[in-house]
Amino acid sequence: MSVRMGEKSSEIPGFHKLSIKERLSVLKDFSDLDDTEMASLMKTGSLSIDLADRLIENVVSTLELPVGIVPNFLINGKDYLIPMAIEEASVIAACSNAAKIARASGGFTSESSDPVMIGQIQIMEYGNYEEVKRTILDHRSSILEIANSRSKTLSSMGAGAKDIEIRKLNDRRSSIIIHLLVDVRDAMGANVVNSMCESVAPYIEEIAQCKTNLRILSNLTPYRISRSKATFRKELIGGEEIVERIISAYEMANVDPYRAATHNKGIMNGIDAVLLATLNDWRSAEANAHTYHELTGNLSLTSYHKDSDSNLVGEIEIPIAVGIVGGSTNTVKKASIFRKILNISNSMEFANILAATGLAQNFSAIRALSAEGIQKGHMALHARSLAASVGASGSEIDQIAGIMVSTNSISMTKAKELLDEVRKRTNK
Ligand code: MEV
Repeated sequence: MSVRMGEKSSEIPGFHKLSIKERLSVLKDFSDLDDTEMASLMKTGSLSIDLADRLIENVVSTLELPVGIVPNFLINGKDYLIPMAIEEASVIAACSNAAKIARASGGFTSESSDPVMIGQIQIMEYGNYEEVKRTILDHRSSILEIANSRSKTLSSMGAGAKDIEIRKLNDRRSSIIIHLLVDVRDAMGANVVNSMCESVAPYIEEIAQCKTNLRILSNLTPYRISRSKATFRKELIGGEEIVERIISAYEMANVDPYRAATHNKGIMNGIDAVLLATLNDWRSAEANAHTYHELTGNLSLTSYHKDSDSNLVGEIEIPIAVGIVGGSTNTVKKASIFRKILNISNSMEFANILAATGLAQNFSAIRALSAEGIQKGHMALHARSLAASVGASGSEIDQIAGIMVSTNSISMTKAKELLDEVRKRTNK
């Protein structure tokens, strides 16, 4: 064990073999945690520490997040209550407001393509590209058969590996990349696609006399796309001037990467929060969404135009790979309850909801930015969370946040100062 003078070492052999109690005690020493901090770590909610310990490695605690419900959503004529897990104030209020405005014009119309994922197999040592390509295409059906032997369930549903694509890259070795196109139905698909890629690689090496390297799904899913559309009536959003401003905000995001990052971040605020509540892989959703422009050339995932009555029409086109079976979505009780609240019958319906949520979130953000700005509403909620963070509780939070907003002085220091004053007054 290497210990630098005067410092504690983070090299802890066998840390993963320790019990949770033992890990906590290591942590206590390493980070000088006091008894209150230790008690906080030991307190868990509905996710039991034993289940947590089985889900990931080196568990010491669990973490709770607020979950709120977004009402008002009407998507393809069906009403939804949408659960969101998020630490950021304003997201839920903004989304619900957008859903209410869209509802006045019939809500959102969403559609999702078949859930087809891409698995990639990298070939890095080979003879002649055209020959390798021909050999692989000649053996297309055996490759698909081997891949499909990895999932009897998908095969029995008429889904599974469906096709093959072959490309040559411009990297140092001119790698050949084989894409296995897999219809994964109600799964996110990572496990089954990875297994399929690993199972066909040795066969490909044999028939094409080559060496394979990576065998893994792509988190970019151009064949698994969701679209949603809604009309926001001009009189409900501040008139024609605001409609023009929103369109111009979209036009900026579509060409300026600095704005696109923020614009698309706002879209993912909503989508990630639903994914988190249902314990789906939000990192893959982020990677997917933020790389999609490489294929379309559009930096913005949404677009806006006026209809013939000068109302605002918003649209989103976004790759979404989301499952309702597998992963942690069924293991953790609350995640499955939130999925039950969503009332979805397949992964495509889930993707339809997510696309509508992303559009609603984006509309709300750029509407506020194009009108009064976001700080007014945001800071009021931020003031509440600052008040809570300095220890205020119950009505103290409202009192302190109210004063901070009305005096336009919103900071942690101010919140602490006000809490002291309030408590002095009430002799707490
Ligand atoms: C904040 O989390 C998200 C926004 O910045 C999105 C946007 O600017 O469009 C409000």
